This record gives sequence, structure tokens and C-alpha cells, in this order.
Amino acid sequence: MKTEILTADASDIDRAAARLNRGELVAFPTETVYGLGGDARDDMAVARIFEAKARPQFNPLIVHVDSVQTAQRYVQWCDTADRLASAFWPGPLTLVLPLRPDAGLSALVTADLPTLAIRVPAHPVARALLTAFDGPVAAPSANPSGKISPTTAAHVIAGLSGRIAAVVDGGACNVGLESTIVGLSETPTLLRPGGLPLEALEAALGAPLALRGSDDPLSAPGQMTSHYAPGAPVRLNATDLRPGEKLLGFGKVEAAMNLSPSGDLTEAAANLFHHLHAMDTLNAKGIAVSPIPDHGLGRAINDRLRRAAAPRP
Ligand code: TXA
Ligand code: MG
Repeated sequence: MKTEILTADASDIDRAAARLNRGELVAFPTETVYGLGGDARDDMAVARIFEAKARPQFNPLIVHVDSVQTAQRYVQWCDTADRLASAFWPGPLTLVLPLRPDAGLSALVTADLPTLAIRVPAHPVARALLTAFDGPVAAPSANPSGKISPTTAAHVIAGLSGRIAAVVDGGACNVGLESTIVGLSETPTLLRPGGLPLEALEAALGAPLALRGSDDPLSAPGQMTSHYAPGAPVRLNATDLRPGEKLLGFGKVEAAMNLSPSGDLTEAAANLFHHLHAMDTLNAKGIAVSPIPDHGLGRAINDRLRRAAAPRP
């Protein structure tokens, strides 16, 4: 894949929006860092984000929207959200709120959590793209997993050239730090310090924010115990079926459900959470899962499956 470099002109923004509409990945500038954007409603697009970054885990992503009104279509809004959004949106603040059941977003975006991280970015190019696309854009920072976040299009190209459809060059990001993340699904809590100072948040709230300790299990969303696990025991690397088990297949096997009959890891990632939920409704004694190759997206799939298979507390 050749990564197209687009300008911030209206015609190029339309090209970028068209690519997002086709499920392709487009990196774009926000005021914090460049984001790696994909249609948040499209399972395959979101799977491609994890693939392009080579993330070894499905941690949840931030969804970018054009306005408070749009945000309210995806999350359950509350007074505190209103207060923070009116003070700081558009801007470098992400709010974590309960996901609306009718949100229609890919389960991969939230890593199947019941909450959603959402923000309205301030960068004019991000805003133009969100307006042209007219939909929710999932976007982690546009760097390979484990590398520093990009603040120029050249950084994005250095890390992801050939792995994404396009990058919109909107110059350097002025904040240069990721957004500050505040959790509002329970007590208002600072989940990640970032481009918006804690003092500004507390001034707007008129109260101190709870801080999350680094040893708090919530600090690694990928590890959250609230993560969904199927009711039946899960057995991995199954090459046969034991009595009462049903098979969640991968590749050419006869199975109750198949993550990807053709053995495509991107398709398997896109199907993972749906299929786990669906397997749960089959009332099997156990869920056996075919071996999944442990490279590329297979690493994140296996990480998630190991959690589903881990002994329950
Ligand atoms: O400035 C930013 O926030 C940039 C730009 C592109 O918007 N994005 C960014 O995304 O930094 P990312 O994927 O690198 O970081 C997202 C963070 C992760 O630490 C993730 O765990 C957390 O947001 N997060 C996402 N959804 C969450 C949720 N439902 N609950 C708690 N944390 C969540
Ligand atoms: Mg990042």
C-alpha cells in the first residue's frame, strides 16, 4: 500500500473523508498529536487500526466527533460532562462516559467495555475532516505501538508509511501532548494527565478530581476485570472437540462459528467480540477455540482470548 500525502485543502479533505467512508485508515492532525483515524462504526476499519499500529492488545480507543450534540448520540450525557464540555470542547480533553446501547459503534473501539472515551478536537483540519466525513472517527495516536506519538506528518510517515491509506498534512500539532482523560462513569477521575492541566479542570468543576494510582487495576484498561468473559469455560488451541463443547473456529474447520474461514487475522479481529457474545448464547458446556497464529493481529486476539479463558475469580 502506498500512503497518500494529502494537504488540508477542501478537495483533499474530501478525498480523506471518502477514504474513511471506504473503511480505510487516514492519519490526521489534532491539536494534541496526529491521530490514526478509522470509521468507529466499521469493525474492519477498527481492526486495521490495531493492525497498522501492531498493538499487541485491544486497548480501547478514543472516538472523535464534531460537537457535543454528536457526542450525545454515543454516550450517556450528564451534568458534569456538560460543564467540562462547555468549558473545554473543542480541545484536548477526553471524557469517558457510559456507552449508549444504541451507539452502533464497533465493539473493538471500546474493547467491549461498557464505557466510551470521546472528544471534540479543536484543530481546524481535524474539524474539517469530521465535518466532511460526518461520522465518528476512532483514532489512537498515529505511531507504531511502543513508539512516541507523532506531532508532524513526517513523524507519521516515518512510522506508518505503507501501512495506512493516507495522512493529511496539517503542520505541527501545537499542544504536542495527548489529551487529558477524565472518567465520568463513576466519581470524576483523572485517568490520564495530558494537554489540559488538572488545575483548569478542577477550576471548572469547582472541586478536586480523584486521581488514579498507577497500581490501580483500572490504569490498564486492557486488563480490566470488568471485561466481558463468556459464561462457559473457554479452551484455547483446540484441535478437537470434547463432549458438550462448541467450536469457535479459525480457518478451514467445521465450527459453530468461525472468526475467519479464510484464515484472515484482520477479519478475525473484527469478528472477535461479536462471536464471543454469540457463542455464549449457544448454551455450550464449553467453548473451544481453534489455534490462532501468534503474529500480527493474532497477538492481540490471543491476548484477549487468554483473558476470556483465564480462571474466574
Ligand atoms: O490526544 C489524544 O488523546 C490522541 C489524539 C489522536 O486524539 N489520542 C490518543 O489515543 O492518545 P490513544 O489510543 O493513544 O490513547 C487512548 C487512551 C488509552 O490509554 C486508553 O486506555 C484510554 O484512552 N481509554 C480509551 N477508552 C477508555 C475507556 N472506555 N475507559 C478508560 N480508558 C479508556
Ligand atoms: Mg498513544
